[in-house]
Amino acid sequence: MEPVQTHTHTPFADVDAMPAEMITLLIAALEAMSRHPEIRRVRQIAHDALRPASGQRLLDAGCGGGDVARGLAAEVGPDGCVVALDFSASTIEAAGRRHDGSPVEYRLGDVCALDLPDDSVDGVWCERVLQHLDRPDTAVAEFARVTRPGGRICLIDTDWDSLAFDGLREDLSTALLRFSRDQFRRGQLDMGRSLRRRLLGAGLTDLQAVPVTCFFGTPESAAVVLPMVNPDLPADAGMWPDGLRESWFAEVDRAGAAGEFLAVLTLWVAAGTV
Ligand SMILES: C[S@@+](CC[C@H](N)C(=O)[O-])C[C@H]1O[C@@H](n2cnc3c(N)ncnc32)[C@H](O)[C@@H]1O
Repeated sequence: MEPVQTHTHTPFADVDAMPAEMITLLIAALEAMSRHPEIRRVRQIAHDALRPASGQRLLDAGCGGGDVARGLAAEVGPDGCVVALDFSASTIEAAGRRHDGSPVEYRLGDVCALDLPDDSVDGVWCERVLQHLDRPDTAVAEFARVTRPGGRICLIDTDWDSLAFDGLREDLSTALLRFSRDQFRRGQLDMGRSLRRRLLGAGLTDLQAVPVTCFFGTPESAAVVLPMVNPDLPADAGMWPDGLRESWFAEVDRAGAAGEFLAVLTLWVAAGTV
């Protein structure tokens, strides 16, 4: 089935609509994030909340480069399977190129209209996807529909308005944060904290919600997760107020060299039982 998504608010809502060099950059960024110790810490908490087991059939909804799907496949083993699903054909292609022989089935699809039967998976992982959707609750309802009774759903997402800096000139960090808050849509600013409520709304029980505040002590570490600190992003990426990009990065470099740079961002892990 061809995905029919119409969300267009963020680059990750429709990756394939972007220029080829931007797609390459985004896929490389997802891989770099997978290796970042703070993202690994978030994923360990999510893993414990999902409780994957040998022989299970799991769904990684909005799988990106497929790192998580391949990790889960190692847990479910040869008798299990992970469906790695994404809306973007280039992302699924990139994930397929990284296939390591583990039981992962890469599929194109829309999390808001899953082409899977009711009660057909034992669990769902959905990481940093809902913030890009117009109808996140439709996706959560779909996860509940396809998960068998007793199965687990684990959602991971960001609260972008938790982003804070220290060690930088206050006028610059204030201008940057104000600009970011205007650029991010509401679902990106507060998606993390809303995950538990969304699972409750879909009828799940045994709910868990863990805020994980990620710490970045250098500009290099922050740049992997925070686009506004990433100097490799093109100037027209919409991350910096007009005319401030150069002074922002000069200040980030100065604070980094002085050992003063600090950034924090809270990601939430929420899980429940169907
Ligand atoms: C920020 S990336 C996260 C990827 C992966 N979950 C991770 O944490 O590395 C968001 C992903 O969601 C996918 N996506 C966005 N809207 C989607 C939808 N409606 N259905 C399926 N995937 C979607 C994007 O193509 C992208 O790969």
